[in-house]
Amino acid sequence: MIDISLLSSRSRQLAGLDISSSSVKLVELSANDRGGLRIERYVIELLPRDAVVDGDIANFDGVADGIRRALRRFGSNPKNVAVALPVTFVSTKKIVMPDGLRELDMELQVESEAAQYIPFALDEVNIDFQVIGPAGTPGDIEVLVAAARKDKVEDRIGVAEAAGLKVAVVDVESFAIEAAFELVVEQLPNSARGKLVGLVNIGASSTTFTVLRDGQRLYSREQQFGGNQLTQDIARQFGMSTEEAESAKRGDNLPPEYSDLLRPFMDSVALEVSRALQFFFTSTQYNAVDYLVLAGGCAVIPGLAEIVGGRTQVQTIVANPFSDMAQSSKLASKKLQAEAPSLMAACGLALRRFDE
Ligand SMILES: Nc1ncnc2c1ncn2[C@@H]1O[C@H](COP(=O)(O)OP(=O)(O)OP(=O)(O)O)[C@@H](O)[C@H]1O
Ligand SMILES: [Mg+2]
Repeated sequence: MIDISLLSSRSRQLAGLDISSSSVKLVELSANDRGGLRIERYVIELLPRDAVVDGDIANFDGVADGIRRALRRFGSNPKNVAVALPVTFVSTKKIVMPDGLRELDMELQVESEAAQYIPFALDEVNIDFQVIGPAGTPGDIEVLVAAARKDKVEDRIGVAEAAGLKVAVVDVESFAIEAAFELVVEQLPNSARGKLVGLVNIGASSTTFTVLRDGQRLYSREQQFGGNQLTQDIARQFGMSTEEAESAKRGDNLPPEYSDLLRPFMDSVALEVSRALQFFFTSTQYNAVDYLVLAGGCAVIPGLAEIVGGRTQVQTIVANPFSDMAQSSKLASKKLQAEAPSLMAACGLALRRFDE
């Protein structure tokens, strides 16, 4: 797991809080003595439209209210939460430095290197770094540096605090998703060791295509495509408001003609995925991926993996980061299984509880 946090204080009880454009999601995990994970509770609470736009908290009160509603359904408040910033507000870079530097010297080196590549003034960012391992050159190590816009970090902390929560960790959304992805990859044959796995995260307004091998990101690209398209079609076809369409879609209570909209949407997802693959092949040295993993709220659509797999001719599964975890008896298994692909970021954030 990438252990980088733009702000972090040691904490025992911690839940993951994912503030995304469609909803607020909370996940709490626990671990037994042998490290076995268990999902204790989770909640998905819809946000008003345009409360979060391009990862920006556009309607502060709307989001704070959404978090409060989520907490009421969650039960008691978690002591601490981990939140994430969209990667657009973070710039990351791998740098090389001599091995064996003292912590303080490393910090100084990171700062001076950061000053060269960050497009902001140093006092406008929060910086963290993590040693990745030996560099190609002997005696050197490779270090991942992340710098995030302080104002965006403060927005997230502020809105969580307004809802009565304490933020203990600020992560990067793509890192959190990749942490949960590691749990999903374990479910593939031979844990997909040495294999290229494409992760397709299909959200409400955007889709991210990332290719990873053995936990290392090789490629990532975001497209403006997502479930909002289908929601608009539903609203138009059935004369509903967007909000009505959104909740009818999630609640599975739409007339049978819904399938006339759903099928073309699924086809366009498959088309987007195959385009993303082509783009990956033409812009890198690779010409195949071994598996595709579908995540995000749209991945809950039954049969989507078959359609994407059929079009791309790549073995495709739907992400469920909880499938090897124990479950609190209070949780409805079926519902959790259905909603799991949309809980990747929240799950990855909840995993921060177990950081060393
Ligand atoms: N049962 C369902 N059937 C069809 N679509 C669904 C279902 N449940 C959720 N979705 C869709 O998934 C999308 C939300 O996915 P997700 O929670 O991953 O997005 P997000 O992270 O809020 O959005 P973004 O990443 O674009 O900011 C919405 O378009 C929603 O309508
Ligand atoms: Mg998302």
